[in-house]
Amino acid sequence: MTSKYTPLKDHDTPIKVLFTGYLCAVGVGYFFALVQILFTHGMADGEFGLSVDDIVYSYYGNRSGTVLEQKLNGSMKANAPEQERFEIIRWVREGADKDDYVDGGIDKIIESRCVMCHNKDASGIPDLSNFETLKELTKQDEGATFASLTRVSHIHLFGISFIFMFIGLIFSFSETTTVKYKCVAIGMPYAFLLADILSWWLTKIDPMFALLVILAGMGMGVSFMFMWTISIMEMWFFKPVFVNGPGMQVQNWLDSLSKGKNKEKFEQVGKLLVKAWNFSYDFWKVKLQPQAFKAYNHAKSILKEKLKNKSVE
Ligand code: HEC
Repeated sequence: MTSKYTPLKDHDTPIKVLFTGYLCAVGVGYFFALVQILFTHGMADGEFGLSVDDIVYSYYGNRSGTVLEQKLNGSMKANAPEQERFEIIRWVREGADKDDYVDGGIDKIIESRCVMCHNKDASGIPDLSNFETLKELTKQDEGATFASLTRVSHIHLFGISFIFMFIGLIFSFSETTTVKYKCVAIGMPYAFLLADILSWWLTKIDPMFALLVILAGMGMGVSFMFMWTISIMEMWFFKPVFVNGPGMQVQNWLDSLSKGKNKEKFEQVGKLLVKAWNFSYDFWKVKLQPQAFKAYNHAKSILKEKLKNKSVE
């Protein structure tokens, strides 16, 4: 194969050492980044392991209420009678105003029911005799703030694009991947990086996008691993992997996919998929959609009728 660049395996050893040192350091960095994600975001829903809920709580927040209210209905329930808990919750919902705190007698309730445990000397639990501390617990949990998102966004964009700049550069000297796939592998992390950052902001607005955060993160990880592995293999294990080893088999297998019988098979599967799509689309158009419309109109007319009757009464 003639190429306009020096293939990875033919670089001088010092350059290979340099490339390898960089790749190893960044690889370990990636590992620590994953561990950190597991321990910060991973614990957001109170359970170990990363889930969609974690992402939602981290960026969107747990908007079902404030910490104070959740605790008063949870583990602190036994510490105050119904009426007093109700008073506190109402004060929280009305904005947790400082004047109302005294006027509404909330301070007395907190003092008599909570401060025996929640005081200055208690460690690990908030000191509720301090109004500011209490106030913090009455805010709605809204996840990441716009300020923190802005900060983390630009750090990530600058930092990660640099990492992928060098990994992509090293990988671009590889010779076992075709130009087409090389372009995909080198471009993908940038697309996913942008999607990742964008999805944080979108998740802040709507929790639906939490899935995109996970997908984009995985996409970046996959392209990282691919470029990393191919580069190291080509530099140090070219013969055993690509000439005599599994690399050759993968290559042959990929080649065979686009040839002869396999090609026919793929085309057949493709045609079948198109057919299935057309069929289900027609089914939706002809059968389901009109019925759905009918049901919707029916429900609407019933509702209208009901409203009319009500206004007559
Ligand atoms: C008998 C001691 C005791 C009393 C009385 C008590 N608490 Fe607690 N509180 C705790 C302990 C221990 C924790 C930590 C464990 C937990 O979260 O359930 C805690 C946790 C909390 C938390 C969660 C703090 C955080 O940062 O997660 C809130 C909010 C809270 N208490 C509010 C109250 C309120 C309001 C009262 C009064 C109605 C009250 N507590 C009375 C012992 C007490």
